[in-house]
This record gives sequence, structure tokens and C-alpha cells, in this order.
Amino acid sequence: MRFAAISLLLAATPLVVEAYPQYAKRLAGSRNDNRAKYPILRRAAVPYSDQYPYTGAKLDGQSGTGKGGVQVPAPGDTAHEYQDPPPGAYRGPCPGLNTLANHGFLSRDGITTYTEMVAGLQNVYNVDFSTAVALTMLGFVFDGDPISEMMSIGGDATLITGQDGNFTGEYGGVSKHGTFELDVSLTRNDFYLNGDSYSFNGTLFGMMLATAKNTSTAANPLFDFNAMALYRSQQYDRARVENPWLYFPQLALHNYGAATFLYEAFPSSAKNNTPDLETISSFFGAVQLEDGTWGHVGERPPPNWHNRVTPMTLADVTGGIDALYAAYPKDFGANLGGTWFSLNETYTPSTGSNSSAGDSALVCGAYGEILNTALSAPQPYAMYGFVLEKAGPVFAPYNCSFPGLPTSIAGLAS
Ligand code: HEM
Repeated sequence: MRFAAISLLLAATPLVVEAYPQYAKRLAGSRNDNRAKYPILRRAAVPYSDQYPYTGAKLDGQSGTGKGGVQVPAPGDTAHEYQDPPPGAYRGPCPGLNTLANHGFLSRDGITTYTEMVAGLQNVYNVDFSTAVALTMLGFVFDGDPISEMMSIGGDATLITGQDGNFTGEYGGVSKHGTFELDVSLTRNDFYLNGDSYSFNGTLFGMMLATAKNTSTAANPLFDFNAMALYRSQQYDRARVENPWLYFPQLALHNYGAATFLYEAFPSSAKNNTPDLETISSFFGAVQLEDGTWGHVGERPPPNWHNRVTPMTLADVTGGIDALYAAYPKDFGANLGGTWFSLNETYTPSTGSNSSAGDSALVCGAYGEILNTALSAPQPYAMYGFVLEKAGPVFAPYNCSFPGLPTSIAGLAS
């Protein structure tokens, strides 16, 4: 729409075209945005400087220092200050990614890259390097473009992430329902209810807060393990009744992982890692209106926010998934027109009592899921090769073995 408006304006004013030759060239293209010949005009993430290194990750897909306790955004780092999303920007169901884009740690237009995401997760939330790679890759195999290495953190942006004449598939973006985005979320509707499973829903935020008040105190509600375990259980029970086409496979355990982020990633280490209302409402962009209901503004960390001191690991996330699910085990299955169909599956926890950050079973479990999911991408072999190229070297020390799955690009070709 933006380009259509610009082209109308320019068509009526040829002098302006002469003054802006880049637009003249773009207008010459078949769709007024001939990206095969001209660079994609988009706002990239703000580069990191030596003055404001955060946890030391750069835009190169490599590891930072893992030394957290860093204030984000750093005082004086105006380039990483909050800005409202620019017109036409993409935002989606993930408050964590929306926050990164609103601060320029990802491209502010919401069309990001593999390297932006791996660096942003480390620098802002102090996610451990291999965990950042695993989370980013999980996003890519479901929703990203392996050729351009770009991904929309909102809806489908194939015409931007692809290149004219070189489209390799339709990649849905993080908002795409039925991939990474599934039913039974915290503050987003189930898709069935209105086809929008990515926008913030203030009623659901109010319900999550009410649960937190019950599990802690009304004066200082905490979005801690107890609150999130109970609220996820309540959301599931509600969906079983309200969504006649609820789909809840084991894959939905990802949403338990997202719930761990409220008490693992969002709390400020300058505030004793407390998942309080000020912190959580800020990251969700939730603001209380005069009538007591919850509205929405751009997501951001609260003032004086400091990230975790120690990196968040896969053991933190998967251990959280296991514990949240175990607190209120739920049946996996689907509502078929309102009648429950059980998959009769039992969940086997991935973490044992001795799970640690470097646990190869956890890393290999995540890597195996990523590789298998890649094979269902629009371009399975391109996606598989992308995973092997980027994540292969990172996970190589864990000596994962996947019978039947090639773990080298050479193996893929043979
Ligand atoms: C440490 C980094 C991250 C944090 C703190 C974070 C935080 C969250 C939170 C709190 C939610 C729940 C929102 C709700 O249900 O209301 C969520 C959902 C989601 N996140 Fe993230 N996230 C992170 C990384 C990522 C990455 C790397 C991706 C993919 C590229 C991603 C994709 C999603 C998706 C698809 C959902 C929707 C799940 C659903 O409700 O069905 N997130 N995230």
C-alpha cells in the first residue's frame, strides 16, 4: 500500500522522480519494486558498537560473552531507544521479538535476518549462544526464508523476504497459524475465534493478571512459575469449551516454553529477577485504561531494565516446559466440531533431575526437531542445508546422532 501511494504521487509529479532517481528505477519494475535489480529498501538492525557492546554479540552469527546484568537499552545508546513501529512495519504474536524490533535490535520494519536474531537474543535477553541459535532456527524452519535468510516477525512478507524472479516458497512469518503459532496462547486468541491469533488481547492479559493475583498477592502479583502453570491450565480448559476446532498436539508444548520467558527472560536483574506487573506489562505492551481494561502500546523493557546475569539455556526452557506441563497435565488432541478427539499420547519429559546447560540430550533433542521440521518447509532441501550450514557447527560438539538424517551438506547431496 505504501508503494502504491508513492507511485501514484510520483506518476503525477515527474519532477520529483528526477529528484529521486531510486524511485524512478523502482517505478520501472514490473511491480514498482523490482528487487531483482535493486537492493531491498528496508531498515536493518542498528549495528553494535564498542561503546555499547551489551553481551558482546555482533551481527555475524557468532557467540557473545554471555556476561549479563547489562542495562538495556544502555544509557546513552540513542540508536537503540524505543521507537513506535514505522508505518507498514510487521509485528506479531511474540512480545519478545516485538520488543527487539521496537528497539532496533532487529530491523525496525520487522523483517529480520538470522544474524540479527541470534545477536539480539543474546544481547538483550542474555540467551546462551547455542540456545539463541536453536530458538532462531526453530523460527526459521517454521516461518523463515532459507535463501534470503530473512524472516518476518509478523505476517507473510514473501514479496519482501524473497527476490523478484527468485521466489523459493511462501514463508508465513512468525504470525502464521499452525506452525510455531498455535492455539492456547497467553494473550492471543485461538485462530478459530476471529482469524487473528497474533494481536494482543487485553481481556486475556486481564485474566492472566487475575490468576497471578490469586497465586501470589493482589498487591504485588507475580507472573512466576505458579501463576503461569495455573494460567496455562485455565487457558487449555477454556479452549476445550470455547474453541470447537481446538488443535493441541505435543507441538503446543512450545507455548509452555513461551510461558517460561515471563519468569526466565523478562525479569530485571536490577530488581532481583522479579516477574512483577510493571515488568511484564511493559514487555507485553499492556497499559491499563481508565475503565480498568487493558489496552496496547509498543512492547519495550521497563525503565532501568537489566538483563539476566547468567545466560538462559535450553535446560531453563525445556525444564520449564516439563515442570509447567507436569503441574497440570493435559490431554493432547483436537476438538472436531466440538467433540474431543484424544491423540492418546503421553508426554515424556526431556529433562531429568541432572539436566544442565550443556546437556547434549537437550541440545540434540532441539536439533533433531529443527532438522525434521526443515524437511516440511516449502523448500525442504534448501532449508535443511541452511540449518546444517548455520547450526551444524554450533551443535557439532554435542555429537548428536540422527539415524536416517544427513548431518552434513555432503550427506544431503549424496
Ligand atoms: C528470549 C527470546 C524470546 C522471548 C522472551 C519470547 C517471548 C514470548 C512470549 C512471552 C510469548 C507468549 C505470548 C502470548 O502467548 O501471549 C511468545 C510467543 C511466541 N513467540 Fe516468542 N519469545 C522469544 C523468542 C522467540 C523466537 C526466537 C521466536 C521465533 C523466531 C519466537 C516466536 C514466538 C511465537 C510464534 C509465539 C506465539 C506462540 C503462540 O502463542 O502460539 N519467539 N514469545
